[in-house]
Amino acid sequence: MISIKSEREIELMREAGKYNMLTFKEVEKYLKPGVTTKKLDKIIHDFIIKNGCVPSTLGYEGYPASVCISVNDEVVHGIPGARVLQNGDIVSIDLVLSYKGYHADATRTYIIGEVPEDVRNLVENTKGAFYAGVAKVKEGARIRDISKAIEDYAHAHGLSVVEELVGHGIGSSMHEEPDVPNFDTNSMVKLKTGMTLAIEPMLNLGSKHVFLEDDDWTVKTVDGKPSAHYENTVLVTKDGYEILTGE
Ligand code: MF3
Ligand code: CO
Repeated sequence: MISIKSEREIELMREAGKYNMLTFKEVEKYLKPGVTTKKLDKIIHDFIIKNGCVPSTLGYEGYPASVCISVNDEVVHGIPGARVLQNGDIVSIDLVLSYKGYHADATRTYIIGEVPEDVRNLVENTKGAFYAGVAKVKEGARIRDISKAIEDYAHAHGLSVVEELVGHGIGSSMHEEPDVPNFDTNSMVKLKTGMTLAIEPMLNLGSKHVFLEDDDWTVKTVDGKPSAHYENTVLVTKDGYEILTGE
């Protein structure tokens, strides 16, 4: 069942989205070489709580932190810890919080200091792939229109698409139906006004293949090349979409 949100629920998701965005603004102040990912987790956790929100990932299926922080060849679900950010790293911050029971999910990949041009392009084009996908969103379009647009954009920019992880519906649960893959599928699901989706391309500079680390959470690229991730929570409207988690 794909839930259609009421006006009241949409208003709560807008609020959740606003707090999600404010949390990014807060953590961005600390994103410099020398900071540990554990410190970033603490800043995020405290800010979420201060705003009367709840960190959705903390304790989710045993996940031990209030945010996922994935560096360089880590694709998703990196666990914050003693790792120190260095000049030349790229860092994906995947942040889910809830406000009055409604979740907002967003990811940004940040460049720390200077990186080679191909890595900068990876980061910029992953954001571009999100926008190529979201441009397809409107009442009556299909999930696969989004998926195909993301995949085509990635391939046109020489990037590969991670297939093991997908976007998702979101609302009173962090993960709801439908799946939103970043590659073409035969999904026939049609979009309706009031659906809310987390659209989240995960693109790799090298091989699309990934593996799960021994910590049972961190997903990494098999070839050790960098991966980037960009995500927003999006409301389907009659003529298009509204991004609930900002630019
Ligand atoms: N933001 C992630 C997603 O898009 C959720 C993190 S999953 C967790 O699905 F298990 F690590 F919490
Ligand atoms: Co998500």
